[in-house]
Amino acid sequence: MNKFILFYRSSIGKKIIMSLSGLFLCTFLIVHVSANLFLFKQDGGEAYNQVAHFMSTNFVIRTIEIVLFVGILAHMISGVWVWMMNRLSRPVGYDMYRLKDNTKFSSRTPMLSTSAGLVGFFLVSHLTTFWIPTRFGTETMTPYQMVSTAFSDPILSIFYIVSLAFLGFHLKHGFQSGFQTLGLRNQKYKVWIDAVAVIFWLLIPLGFAAIPAYFLFFKS
Ligand code: HEM
Repeated sequence: MNKFILFYRSSIGKKIIMSLSGLFLCTFLIVHVSANLFLFKQDGGEAYNQVAHFMSTNFVIRTIEIVLFVGILAHMISGVWVWMMNRLSRPVGYDMYRLKDNTKFSSRTPMLSTSAGLVGFFLVSHLTTFWIPTRFGTETMTPYQMVSTAFSDPILSIFYIVSLAFLGFHLKHGFQSGFQTLGLRNQKYKVWIDAVAVIFWLLIPLGFAAIPAYFLFFKS
């Protein structure tokens, strides 16, 4: 049998795929939040529209987008599988209140899986609101108008801010677990990994959350 299939069929194979795809998705978030920060430029959305146009028409970016969706699927499928295996091997469930006493990967699974479910729900809603109309619809608004109109709705803006808090929560535990699975979160690198993790679980979600807050409170 193909070596990759054998590797993927093993538990550790799925955990490694989940870690690598999760870390790859983190790099996407850097690009996405950086592009979105152009929304703050006081030029009526001109710069953001140019960036959005470049991102949606550039051949290299469109190809990377396919890799991105493969990464999202690989991460979700492996995640659901690992979650199910953990449930089957420990049907009585975890003691949610003693998680600090036990920092093994398996003990963090309830936090990771709960936040993963909410982030997954957010992602489906996000792609339906922004990505599908831009790519496949007959959208007549510019990308800037689309974002500003969407976030003039307080319910959507609050949904985004709450979801981004869950994203931060998911990344806090996921980022560290990813490196732990890869065997890199040892004494030597732990302090560095935890420092870089702050960018992902705190700064990036804050950068995203600032967007709905800005349109809701300052632009409507
Ligand atoms: C308030 C913050 C956000 C805004 C304003 C925003 C805006 C957008 C827009 C306008 C698009 C369509 C771009 C296009 O195809 O031209 C898009 C796509 C996408 N967004 Fe977001 N986004 C935000 C947060 C997030 C977060 C937190 C995630 C992940 C957890 C995410 C994941 C994606 C993905 C996977 C796509 C489709 C791939 C792509 O076209 O880049 N977004 N977003």
